Amino acid sequence: MIIETYSPVQTRVLGRRLGGVLRGLDVICLYGNLGSGKTTLTQGLARGAGFRGRVVSPTFNLMRVYKAGKRRIFHIDLYRVSVDETGDIGLEDALSDPEGICIIEWPEAGDGFYPSDRLELRLSHAEGGQARRIVLSGHGPRSRDILRRIKD
Ligand SMILES: Nc1ncnc2c1ncn2[C@@H]1O[C@H](COP(=O)(O)OP(=O)(O)O)[C@@H](O)[C@H]1O
Ligand SMILES: [Mg+2]
Repeated sequence: MIIETYSPVQTRVLGRRLGGVLRGLDVICLYGNLGSGKTTLTQGLARGAGFRGRVVSPTFNLMRVYKAGKRRIFHIDLYRVSVDETGDIGLEDALSDPEGICIIEWPEAGDGFYPSDRLELRLSHAEGGQARRIVLSGHGPRSRDILRRIKD
């Protein structure tokens, strides 16, 4: 599934739609260069999943937790984290939290940890200043279900 957005607001709206269908143990990996819109999309995802507060880049904290009712939304940023360090930041605990939704920017360093049934979103700059191309894919029944739900 490929979606183009033409403003940060549109990217947040997409995130909100997707966030609204997420539940515990769901994992969203956000790939894409600096400025491609991963954090902006996460703002929408967190809002859609029920979080009302401010979402900023966790680059220096590596992980932030947003509470939404019984849900915990783990916003993780593995930019410049090496594979050896991923064990230290509590990635496994986040991924195995039954009420946890994990959203991971720069997910490459955590590759061995993610469930195979996860959503992968690839963001990139498209033609035109504010245009972004977002490719959504996933393998497995849960990912397919999520993608089907946000189609209509
Ligand atoms: N269509 C768009 N979607 C998302 N962000 C956009 C878009 N157009 C412009 N922007 C801007 O691009 C920047 C994206 O930054 P950010 O979401 O922090 O990216 P990343 O987390 O991938 O580094 C923000 O300043 C945002 O306002
Ligand atoms: Mg970011």
